[in-house]
Amino acid sequence: MSARIDLAALPHDFLWGTATAAYQIEGAVAEDGRTPSIWDTFSHTPGKTANGDTGDVACDHYHRWREDIGLMRRLGVNAYRMSVAWPRVIPGGTGPVNPKGLDFYDKLVDALFQAGITPSVTLYHWDLPQVLQDRGGWPERDTASAFAEYAARVAARLGDRVKLWATLNEPSCSAWIGHLEGTMAPGLTDLTAAVRASYHLLLGHGLATRAIRAAAPDAQVGIVNNLSTVHPATDRPEDHAAARRHDGHVNRWWLDPVHGRGFPTDMLDTYGVELPYRTGDLETIASPLDWLGLNYYFPAHVSDDPAGPAPHVRSVRRPDVPRTGMDWEIDATGIETLLLRLTEEYGARRIYVTENGSAFPDVVHPYGTVNDPERQDYLERHLAACASAARRGAPLAGYFAWSLLDNFEWAYGYAKRFGLVHVDYPTQTRTIKSSGHRYADIVRVHRAQTRRAA
Ligand code: FCB
Repeated sequence: MSARIDLAALPHDFLWGTATAAYQIEGAVAEDGRTPSIWDTFSHTPGKTANGDTGDVACDHYHRWREDIGLMRRLGVNAYRMSVAWPRVIPGGTGPVNPKGLDFYDKLVDALFQAGITPSVTLYHWDLPQVLQDRGGWPERDTASAFAEYAARVAARLGDRVKLWATLNEPSCSAWIGHLEGTMAPGLTDLTAAVRASYHLLLGHGLATRAIRAAAPDAQVGIVNNLSTVHPATDRPEDHAAARRHDGHVNRWWLDPVHGRGFPTDMLDTYGVELPYRTGDLETIASPLDWLGLNYYFPAHVSDDPAGPAPHVRSVRRPDVPRTGMDWEIDATGIETLLLRLTEEYGARRIYVTENGSAFPDVVHPYGTVNDPERQDYLERHLAACASAARRGAPLAGYFAWSLLDNFEWAYGYAKRFGLVHVDYPTQTRTIKSSGHRYADIVRVHRAQTRRAA
């Protein structure tokens, strides 16, 4: 069943995009002066990723970027969310810039503009230079200033053309999954390290925001968070309290400080870890932003778990609900709720959906086509919910489908496919899936409508 998308609710200059991240697509990990990131180390550590997969080759985008821009043109999109690999640009983590690293992004950005595609650049999509991890990584304050230094160098080079900048992608994953749950790089399970990492990520975000503006005064800066709607698994008061804590953990901890509200005090109590505050940090973290990025995939249903680690919450798997190939529950109402929450509770003036999408096990038809009705349905439902939020007042300015290509899905390796374009890894053949063709249709219809209305 396909959902009706109220395209007329979206602004005429809406950004229709796809998203990727450097480590997930580029490959060429040892080329042109790039040094290892924490994801090279993690993926090369036995047992950390499905099938021992690594990003060594990934989609070979470092060499095939022209073809990939060609795919975007075929999809008819007018925007592209990409990330820059810190270890390509500053291989030592701090200090000298590697000109070849910046050259790659420079020519990519030029080619995107030539194709009529507006780039939106994320500076940190989880690939911390390993040398900085060796000095302590995000739990250490110096990493925040190193990030700002790197941000300034990239903005100085690309900022004459690139206007849309994001500092961090999903800092909650870096902090909580990387330092508390341990299933993403750097793979720690240490609450104190995780809380300190969260603090320095946000401090780094604030410092980088200022550094980008100093280097490129007309930059429009935002941060990308993955937020979740949170539901108590039962009506027990303990589960309601658990839902409140989970909301604090994944949503408020990341939104409140950036909006000048400081860190949520209930969560400070829950974690019981002292923050490495210094005078002025909260102001830095709350540096004004031009936009907010929302990544949305699935809702959370949680119950109290007093014996578990902070925040003492357990996810509950609901039976009999539709799910993606990640086993993530499908609930398109969540994206609408979150867009309205950012608008009403946080006063967002501009929002981009910076990621949204689904993994399903795709099959290439003998004639070479990929028919993926489930992904298409997910896409349509979520776009319908986005348009509904826009109709209800959310200042939604763009939607970036995750992802342009099937790619290295972190700890899941290549086993999970999120692309609108299928990648056959042994041959690196790209095939637009039926969901990609559907996306192209939607973009075309919106464009035709706005042209008629003009
Ligand atoms: C998000 C990540 C992105 C991708 C999707 C599926 O959490 O930002 O890189 O892996 O999930």
